[in-house]
Amino acid sequence: MMPDQKTPAQHTAYWEKAEPPVRPSREMLRIYQDYLKSTDLWQRGDWGLLGCTAEIRSLAAQHQRPLCCIDIDPHIYEATACLCSPKPNDTFLHNNWIHADCSSSFDLIIGDGSQSMLHPSEHNAFLANVHRMLRTKGHFFLRLQVHQPRHFHSTQEILDWYHEQPQQNSINQAIRSLLIIHWLDPATGTIDPKTFNENIDDLYQQKKLSDGEYQELCKKRMVFSLSYTTKEQFEQSIDSYFEVKDIQTPDDFYWAEHYPIYHLQKR
Ligand SMILES: C[S@@+](CC[C@H](N)C(=O)[O-])C[C@H]1O[C@@H](n2cnc3c(N)ncnc32)[C@H](O)[C@@H]1O
Repeated sequence: MMPDQKTPAQHTAYWEKAEPPVRPSREMLRIYQDYLKSTDLWQRGDWGLLGCTAEIRSLAAQHQRPLCCIDIDPHIYEATACLCSPKPNDTFLHNNWIHADCSSSFDLIIGDGSQSMLHPSEHNAFLANVHRMLRTKGHFFLRLQVHQPRHFHSTQEILDWYHEQPQQNSINQAIRSLLIIHWLDPATGTIDPKTFNENIDDLYQQKKLSDGEYQELCKKRMVFSLSYTTKEQFEQSIDSYFEVKDIQTPDDFYWAEHYPIYHLQKR
């Protein structure tokens, strides 16, 4: 799924405003740290990052690990550098995760939502290439997007639940994930920006959203197509490539249960 084209300044502004799960939450970062401690990877080895997530670049800088960020977008590496702390000392490879030719280059690869940016028809090629890029017994930390369990059966139920909350927290934080999951194409588990953004417009036209709610949702128009899976499907798809070492799920934002982080090891 191709990302949209943004200027570097628009990129920085987009990532600055992004909220979990688009940017990792504190609890997600704690889980990544925990996985690092359960191995000795925080003090050894070469790391690869699928994307340029500022928090992961910061993690590598904190541990003084060499990190190579791989991204299909030529501007994102520069654009996220100013969001990293301490200052990163990493490198950039402008390439597609599926085609990047980095055989046996990394002891650890981290992907924060990376597979979810790809169409399911690309998932096997993606997993095969991550496997190829890792050294023997290399580790892979992957934050996933899963659409189970489903708590709501209609858009109206989701909106009713939100309106019943005693504290009206940000509508994006509270129900964006639920709307995305509810509107996934059942055949593929994917959603594209056009569908999501048009569905939001329809809800407003049907007067199911207030002016304020609509404006807030419109501040974060969807820009990437996304895919969701189930834990069962995912575990089946990785079985020939990776062993599951651990699965932890964050709990510090709404519906965080849909965003487990897998610690995998190369078979
Ligand atoms: C790491 S992903 C996910 C980020 C975020 N944590 C989330 O959940 O949305 C975001 C990045 O993936 C990049 N990207 C998407 N598909 C790609 C591909 N096939 N190869 C390399 N980079 C890709 C985009 O350019 C974008 O910078």
